[in-house]
Amino acid sequence: MKIAIYPGSFDPITNGHLDIIKRASKLFDKVIVLLAINPEKSYRFSKEDRLNMLCEVTKGMKNVEVDSYNGLTIEYARKHGASVLIRGLRVVSDFEYEWAYSAANEYIDKDIEMVFLMSHKELSFISSSAIDELYRSGVDISSLVPRVVLETYAKLQDNKLTK
Ligand code: COA
Repeated sequence: MKIAIYPGSFDPITNGHLDIIKRASKLFDKVIVLLAINPEKSYRFSKEDRLNMLCEVTKGMKNVEVDSYNGLTIEYARKHGASVLIRGLRVVSDFEYEWAYSAANEYIDKDIEMVFLMSHKELSFISSSAIDELYRSGVDISSLVPRVVLETYAKLQDNKLTK
C-alpha cells in the first residue's frame, strides 16, 4: 500500500491546499494530511480549529486521513509506513524553500521520496497569509477557501465580540 503524507501548517487551509489533497488522493492508496505543530511558532488559528477545518474538508474522501504531529515529519512518516511526502509548488520562489526542506528530509531518511505537485495557475497566488490579509481587509474570500474556513473566521469574530 502506497501511503503519502501531505504536511503543512494549514493556517488556514485554502482551496490551493485542497486541490493538492484531491490530486494526491488519486495518486496514492492513502493520504495523511498532517498538521505539523511547531510549538515555537504562533498561529492564527488554534490547533483544534485547524484540525476541525481539515477534517471537515476531507470528510467525503475515503482514502484521506487527518492527523497532527509535534516533531519531524519524516519521523511521523516512518512510524506510519509512509514512503512519500507531498508538497505543492506554486511559483518559482517556493523552490528555494522546498529545496532546503527536501535536502534536510533526505539527510534524515533518503528512502522517503518527496513528490511535488504544481498548483493550478488560478490557485497559485493563494497563501494562508494572503487569505488572512484579504479577509481582514474586508475582501470576499469565499472563492478562495472552503466554507468551513469562513465559518471559523466568523466564530472567532463572534468570540471577540462577546469578550
Ligand atoms: N496552495 C495554497 N497555499 C499554499 C500551497 C498551496 N498548494 N502550498 C503552500 N502554501 C502556502 C501556505 O498557505 C503557507 O502560506 P503562509 O506562509 O502565507 O502561511 C506557505 O505556503 C507555506 O506553507 P506550508 O507548505 O504549509 O509550509 P509551512 O512552512 O507552513 O510548513 C512544514 C512546513 C510544517 C511542513 C515543515 O516545516 C515540517 O515538516 N515541519 C516539521 C519539522 C520537520 O520535519 N522539519 C524538517 C526538517 S528541518
